[in-house]
Amino acid sequence: MNLKDRWLATKAVHAGERRDPPIGPVSTPIYETSVFVFSSTQELIDVVSQRKEGYLYTRFDNPTVTAVEKKMSELEGVKASAAFSSGMAAIASTLFTLVSSGDHIVTTQDIYGGTISLFTEMSTRFGVDVSWVEATDVDAFADAVCSRTKAIYVETPTNPTLKLVDLAQLSKLGEEKGIPVIVDSTFATPHNMRPALFGVDVIVHSATKYLGGHNDVTAGVVCGKTDFIQKLKGTRKMLGGTLDPMAAWLLLRGLKTLDVRMQRHNANTMKVAQWLEKHSKVNRVYYPGLESHPQNGLANDQMWGFGGVVSFEVDGDYDTTRRFVENLKLCLMAPSLGGTETLVTQPVTSSHYFMKVEERVKAGITDQLVRLSIGIEYVEDIIADLDQAFKAI
Ligand SMILES: Cc1ncc(COP(=O)(O)O)c(C=O)c1O
Repeated sequence: MNLKDRWLATKAVHAGERRDPPIGPVSTPIYETSVFVFSSTQELIDVVSQRKEGYLYTRFDNPTVTAVEKKMSELEGVKASAAFSSGMAAIASTLFTLVSSGDHIVTTQDIYGGTISLFTEMSTRFGVDVSWVEATDVDAFADAVCSRTKAIYVETPTNPTLKLVDLAQLSKLGEEKGIPVIVDSTFATPHNMRPALFGVDVIVHSATKYLGGHNDVTAGVVCGKTDFIQKLKGTRKMLGGTLDPMAAWLLLRGLKTLDVRMQRHNANTMKVAQWLEKHSKVNRVYYPGLESHPQNGLANDQMWGFGGVVSFEVDGDYDTTRRFVENLKLCLMAPSLGGTETLVTQPVTSSHYFMKVEERVKAGITDQLVRLSIGIEYVEDIIADLDQAFKAI
C-alpha cells in the first residue's frame, strides 16, 4: 500500500467545508431548514426535474449534509457518499437498493446484531435468501455464491472478537462474479483502513462511532461509486433516513479531528492490549495488532492501525467478569464504541444478550468476554482503572 494514501489529516479538516462568500465562515454553517425558497416557477421546475443542481427539501439533500458527504468521499477515496440518520438507516437503505425478493446475499454471523436482525427479517418476511459463512474463509464465500447473489456483506474487524476479512481476496471474488462487496468499516475508519484501495464497492459506517467520535451523535454514511450512490439517494429520499443538519454539523466537527483521535485510540489500545496479555487474571486477548492474533499478518497488510477496540477473557466465570466490569470507575459501562470516553461491556449482557447460547459459544462469545472501547484519556489512567478492578475480583 502506498503510505501516502494514509495521510488524511488535511482532508479531514478542510474537505467538503462550505466557506461561501460573502460571509465566508471557517466552519460550515448548520442549514437548519426543512425546505428551500425559489424565486420563480421555472427555477423550481429546473431543480425538481434535476436539470439544474439545487436544494429543494432537506429529506432529499441539504448543504450541511452535502459537506459531510464530500468530506467522507475524500477520506475513503471514493467518488460519492450519502449520509444517513444512523448506521442502521445506512445499511438498510443500501440493502434495499441492491436486493429484491428472490435474490440472495452471502454474509457472516460476525456482523453487528442489528444487521443480523435485518438479514433475518429480509429472509423470513421478504423472500431474500441469506447464506451465513465463516468470516475468515474466503473459499466459503466463493462456494456460497450463486446466480441469484446480489451482495456479499462483511464487517472487518468484527465485533467483538476482532476477526479480519481479507478484503483483497473478497473483492477479487466479487469482481470475478460481478457481485458488489459491501464492507462495514465502522471499527477501522478511513484512518486505519481504506477498503476502496482493495476494490471494495460499497463502504458503510455507523458514524455514531469513531467518525462522530464523541458519543454524542447518531449517524451513518455510505461511500462508493457515483451511480450507486445516486440510486441510494433515491432510496433515502423514499425511506426518509436522511441525516439531520444539526447532526451533520456535529459529524463534520468530529471528522475534523479523526486523524489525531485515531492516533491516540490506536496507541492507547495497543498499550492496553499488551498489558492485558501479560495479566495473570486474563486468559485470552483479542486485538489484531498483537503478534498473538492469528491474522496479525493480514492486519499489517490491509490496515495502518488496529483501532480502539480490544476484547479479552477474564480468568473466572460470569459473576467474576460481571464484578470486574462493575468495579471499573473511569471505564464506563455503556454499549457503544468509538468515542473519546473508554467504554466497557460484557457482550453476553448487551450486544449478544439475545443470541442462543450454542451460537454464542460457537462464535467465541463466552460469559467471561469483556469488550473495551478504549478512549483518548491518558493511557496510564485507563490501565490503573483496569488494575484496581482486577484487584477487586
Ligand atoms: C459495526 C456496526 N455497524 C453498524 C452499527 C449500527 O449503527 P447505528 O447504531 O449508528 O445505527 C453498529 C452499532 O453499534 C455497529 O457497531
